[in-house]
Amino acid sequence: MCGIIGYVGKKSASPILLEGLRRLEYRGYDSAGVAVLDQAKLVVRKKLGKIDEGIARLLKAEPVTGQLGIAHTRWATHGVPSDKNSHPHFDQSQKIAVVHNGVIENYDALKQKLARAGHTFKSDTDTEVLAHLIGDCYEKRRGKPGANGDALTQAVCDALREVIGTYGLAVICADYPNLIVGARRGSPLIIGIGKDEHFVASDANAIVAHTKKVVYLNDYDVATITPDRFDVLNLGTDTATVQISQLEFSQEDAARGKHAHFMLKEIFEQPQTVLNALRGRLDFEGATAKFGGLNMTSAELRGIDRIVIAASGTSWHAALVGEYLIEEFAQLPVEVEFAHEFCYRNCPLEKNTVLLVLSQSGETADTLAALREAKRRGHRALAIVNVVGSTIARESDGGIYMHAGPEIGVASTKAFVSTLAVLSLLAVHLGRMRNLPAKRALEFLRALEALPKQIEAILAQNNSLKKIAKKYAQADDFFFLGRGYTFPIALEGALKLKEISYIHAEGYSAAEMKHGPIALIDSKTPTVFLVPQDAMYDKTMANLAMIRARQGPIIALATEGDKQIKKVANDVIYLPKTLEPLYPILASVPLQLFAYHIAMARGCDVDKPRNLAKSVTVQ
Ligand code: G6P
Repeated sequence: MCGIIGYVGKKSASPILLEGLRRLEYRGYDSAGVAVLDQAKLVVRKKLGKIDEGIARLLKAEPVTGQLGIAHTRWATHGVPSDKNSHPHFDQSQKIAVVHNGVIENYDALKQKLARAGHTFKSDTDTEVLAHLIGDCYEKRRGKPGANGDALTQAVCDALREVIGTYGLAVICADYPNLIVGARRGSPLIIGIGKDEHFVASDANAIVAHTKKVVYLNDYDVATITPDRFDVLNLGTDTATVQISQLEFSQEDAARGKHAHFMLKEIFEQPQTVLNALRGRLDFEGATAKFGGLNMTSAELRGIDRIVIAASGTSWHAALVGEYLIEEFAQLPVEVEFAHEFCYRNCPLEKNTVLLVLSQSGETADTLAALREAKRRGHRALAIVNVVGSTIARESDGGIYMHAGPEIGVASTKAFVSTLAVLSLLAVHLGRMRNLPAKRALEFLRALEALPKQIEAILAQNNSLKKIAKKYAQADDFFFLGRGYTFPIALEGALKLKEISYIHAEGYSAAEMKHGPIALIDSKTPTVFLVPQDAMYDKTMANLAMIRARQGPIIALATEGDKQIKKVANDVIYLPKTLEPLYPILASVPLQLFAYHIAMARGCDVDKPRNLAKSVTVQ
């Protein structure tokens, strides 16, 4: 959801900014732009389209030089994707340039006010209004620096006090050849600390090649950044807490390596990422799982009466599996909410209810809002998050990291499976405080431990999966059906296909299908049937027969050794045998590959699917 980067130092800014944009491109790719200060003059380049076809070509044809600059890759909110709506945007005097991630909610009122004062606008964006507002404040501050430093920082503070909405932003001004002002509220922003150079960026991926020392800004922080120092003040409290953190991943972790796409790389990483999620957490002696960061005593955990899980997108599907796991193992009532619904529908929370949020990025605005809402109401809010140091990770009362490493592919794969692994551990942990027998817990822990090897075995079927995918790649509609634990995986399988191949796909309960949607089945509508050998097997097979009786082609995901399924399905993908609650993890992997190969066969850009952004930081 828009990526921003800024550089100030002794090197040429343009290559650093361009490389940073490439690393941020998963956040948005409608257009991109840079502004560099070249001998007291702001030089701007911006272009519609993805980075390599747009801004990179433009910078090659029309290079820019200078050691201070800001850049932006856009996911459109206000105004269509176009050159003119691309960032950076300028103020009326053309001396101040702004890049922005977020939404200025009162931009219309501000625009009218500025227009009455003689401002004219070139774009349809809320960001240009913000740039003009900063410029207007700057004119009033110029030549009259107050006690708090330079006029540009003060102008940014003045402007932000008038703004309603969210922002992660970076501002430069032709009058200040060594200065970037950064600010955040609601959208992430970090400072990267180098030697005689500093960076600002929406996320660490953009700057990890240059430094591993970062400061995560908090809401209402405004940072003044020069080559040799940075200062942070907070608009709310005036003084800001600055903590320097060390990044735990390298540039290589966030690189595509030998794989054609990040999505494929991340699918193939899953034996390792599941291992990472389990590492140090399997306690065979106590027949339980252990965690470092929940920040709750056993007595407090035992005292939970209900868990509400809030999440968005793919993480919401993981939440549904979490509900099944925790209810089965711990007999604790769980309710799953779309994060945005939880915030605004005043759902009752009893005294001992805990909110658990799930988020790969740790920045999803809807999910963050749910976390804040639960905390505001005096409830404990826990989080399962992938990105270390993200806003949700920092604002939750306690939590568990996935340790899946950077996920760049816009369609989430490895983080989904890692979330399921962590939820499985959490279910055992909570279950063992209640009535889960040690024997059952141990059996489950052993099955968890076997998963990485089993995932490897599934990945080894990649070529046959590709063949099956090709066979169905031209279908216009798909169904994905499952029951019990695999019902949420049917939803997720359909979502993956929709996201990257643009085929209409419906995930549905295999049992519920007969109550209406079966009307859509015909010989041209394939169904992916999740039918592992679990407690529901016979019933799911009966549901499958209903599709078959209506000539619907069937691709089955079944358990190794199931001969019966071959007789009734057109194609079969086999899963290694595991315990019922762990089929969601195993079944996810072939569905990811299936979606990937279909999208490839249709010529889609799987890492940058149209209209999507990886981290949605607006509500
Ligand atoms: C966006 C992405 C989805 C993702 C969702 C939640 O909509 O396109 O792929 O599942 O956000 O993201 P999170 O980072 O909170 O898990």
